[in-house]
Amino acid sequence: MTRDPNGIIEAYRRAGQGQVFAFVDRLSPGSRARLLDEAAEVDLAEVERLSRTLVTGGAARALDLAGLAPAPYERMPARGGDPTAWSAARAAGEEALRAGRVAAFTVAGGQGTRLGYDAPKGTFPVTPVRGRSLFEVFAGKILAAGRRHGRPIHWFVMTSHQNHAATEAFFGENRHFGLDPSRVHFLRQGRMPAVDFSGKILLESEGSLALSPDGHGGSLRALERSGALDLMASEGIDTLSYFQVDNPLVRCIDPAFIGWHLNRRSQMSSKAVLKAYPLEKLGHFCVLRGKLVVIEYSDLPEAYQKETDPSDGSLRYGAGSIAIHVIDREFIRDMARGSGSLPFHRADKKIATVDAEGRPVRPQKANGVKFELFVFDAIPSAGNPIVIETERSDDFSPVKNAEGVDSPRTCRADQLRQFARWFKAAGAEVPTDPSGLPEMALEVSPLFGYDERTFCESWSRLDPKPAVTDGLCL
Ligand code: UD1
Repeated sequence: MTRDPNGIIEAYRRAGQGQVFAFVDRLSPGSRARLLDEAAEVDLAEVERLSRTLVTGGAARALDLAGLAPAPYERMPARGGDPTAWSAARAAGEEALRAGRVAAFTVAGGQGTRLGYDAPKGTFPVTPVRGRSLFEVFAGKILAAGRRHGRPIHWFVMTSHQNHAATEAFFGENRHFGLDPSRVHFLRQGRMPAVDFSGKILLESEGSLALSPDGHGGSLRALERSGALDLMASEGIDTLSYFQVDNPLVRCIDPAFIGWHLNRRSQMSSKAVLKAYPLEKLGHFCVLRGKLVVIEYSDLPEAYQKETDPSDGSLRYGAGSIAIHVIDREFIRDMARGSGSLPFHRADKKIATVDAEGRPVRPQKANGVKFELFVFDAIPSAGNPIVIETERSDDFSPVKNAEGVDSPRTCRADQLRQFARWFKAAGAEVPTDPSGLPEMALEVSPLFGYDERTFCESWSRLDPKPAVTDGLCL
């Protein structure tokens, strides 16, 4: 859009969005310039199209699920998978890591509203004894994997406008948790304006638009726009290990998963866990019209979510998405450049805004719509996309809610169970309850061990071995 102030205002009036400048005459020159900058960022034709198709165009059409089938996935050896193929995958992944072909990528631009935590979510203290932050946990795993494979790993962290500065500052204050700062890269995702139910762009205040992050699917275009893909190419990185900021159990760098992706020549691969209960709030891996897709729990009718296989009673749509992917660099570039653009999704939200006089309004119920892109919508466009199974207790315990399921309390317990399992596997005595929860608090730094194998190796070298008592940190 033109940078000329009158041109911008005129374009908004022509698009029926003149309300954005209702208070422009009252603004200071600085505020006016900021509002104009924000306005210039918006693609008005895109907003018009989205409003027409997703907001004002009548009730949203339900997804056509004719012919829907569960997606096939690679089972773990413990559940009937082929152990030789898993070993070959691990070997291929390790080789790629030794060759420096893999980078880690965290999407950390979300607003963390459900957790009720104001700072960037990655700064949330999550470990059971030391209270290490999510970012510190990931950094430790990335550092450890780099050391193990003899090649330090680049880490890309996607932030949003709201949390970019605070995220960078946190890494700075913590000396990048021992990582080489030149290998930690921050990129800011794009944002989208929110509209009311008649498609009018909302103001957050007299001098600013109600803008919010464009969803984790915005990561694909942010990687391209920020130059991150070019940087990867120049460093010889062609494969990205993608994970969300909310899950400290994730294997940030998983050689077997990377190897499956490479051996199958997949452009985008995903990890699945078996759903813990029928209505668990996960995406579902399915095949729809011949394509592998993820269907969000909110888009899949309950009857499907509860359907069981008559032969053994297991859930028919049992493979849940835990939002962990391996993605090919050039596939990201293709997607970002528009070949197979991602669809926007509509989310009805309570959006802080102003009334006709410019007074703040804090709505009690949804008053508008945000538009978001989802990264898993790229899967049907990918060549040879695959899904592999993983053990929930080794890869997934997110912190999403302040209380109840997927909360700091459940995540703490899952970390403790994991540490206790490792101690026991190494031959140490740890009293636990029937769910595997130890009676004492323990913590293991990823630099000591980040899975059972690495933990047992480090433990076997300890001489003398410490007593396993409450508060032990390794
Ligand atoms: C998500 C997935 C769901 C999956 C579940 C597993 C969606 C719509 N659903 O649910 O299929 O089963 O995780 O835990 O994604 N983020 C950004 N920028 C944004 C929005 C989000 O970086 O604009 C990041 C967040 O920081 C977070 C992640 O994306 O790391 C997930 O976002 P969230 O909206 O919390 O997804 P969920 O609804 O929990």
